[in-house]
Amino acid sequence: MTVTDPSPATPAQTGPAPALPDAATVTDVTHWTDRLFSFRVERPKSLRFRSGEFVMIGLLKDDGKPLLRAYSIASPAWADELEFYSIKVQDGPLTSRLQHIQPGDQIILRPKPVGTLVHDALLPGKRIWFFSTGTGLAPFASLIRDPQTYEDYDQVILTHTCREVAELEYGRRLVESLSEDPLIGEMVGGKLAYYPTTTREESAKMGRITTLMEDGTLFSDLGVADFGPETDRAMVCGSLGFNSDMKALLERAGLREGANSEPAEYVVEKAFVG
Ligand code: A2P
Repeated sequence: MTVTDPSPATPAQTGPAPALPDAATVTDVTHWTDRLFSFRVERPKSLRFRSGEFVMIGLLKDDGKPLLRAYSIASPAWADELEFYSIKVQDGPLTSRLQHIQPGDQIILRPKPVGTLVHDALLPGKRIWFFSTGTGLAPFASLIRDPQTYEDYDQVILTHTCREVAELEYGRRLVESLSEDPLIGEMVGGKLAYYPTTTREESAKMGRITTLMEDGTLFSDLGVADFGPETDRAMVCGSLGFNSDMKALLERAGLREGANSEPAEYVVEKAFVG
């Protein structure tokens, strides 16, 4: 998604440097691979958001102006801290620097959450599918920890496709930890199916999820016989190509794209990639 920063340029200052606008303090950083890391920041007291939404976060550039990008909040709406899951791009304007943050550092966080990957954008259904590639997992890391997900649906299926096995690790650990979660552990039991696949390294399940849908493998693996608009709702988050291929598959199955203003059967959002 292309988002321009609406804030005016920082005016010229004399004297001590101004406090960082909308600052949030980093509490924890985990590096998963040489291309992936996650981090947490203190939650601004006034910030309310719906699980699945994104906010603008970033750092100040050398010229004192903020450099911001849209990041899905990976923690659920009830959490005390905000978690983010990010790619590291060595020449990326933001992530080349953001990857070096440490606990105690401050980032900029604009407290205006928005997004389409929210329960409000879907009509009631029986099953919900969260389809993700790469860091597109982030909004679903939030939604699989939200009690509403299990209250609203009989079955919750999270698919995550990455090139290599190590890139699945953040999601795998998160899913494994859910049964121990005091708030939602009991709700999750039996309802959540996790379906990780890789495309460029050997693993238990290989292939693009689009291929596994088209040839029926996904449905036979999960025992789903009746995928369609009466029963199924879907949220999609990944690269542009992934999103458009998924849209075509879902539309072909009879699902229609929804929005906050007009809920329907599926919603799509582009994962942050740069
Ligand atoms: P593949 O390795 O076959 O390209 P990327 O790192 O390029 O964003 O890709 C992340 C994962 O998403 C990879 O496993 C990749 O598979 C898969 N992928 C990329 N594009 C599509 C698409 N159009 N449909 C389904 N899966 C895709």
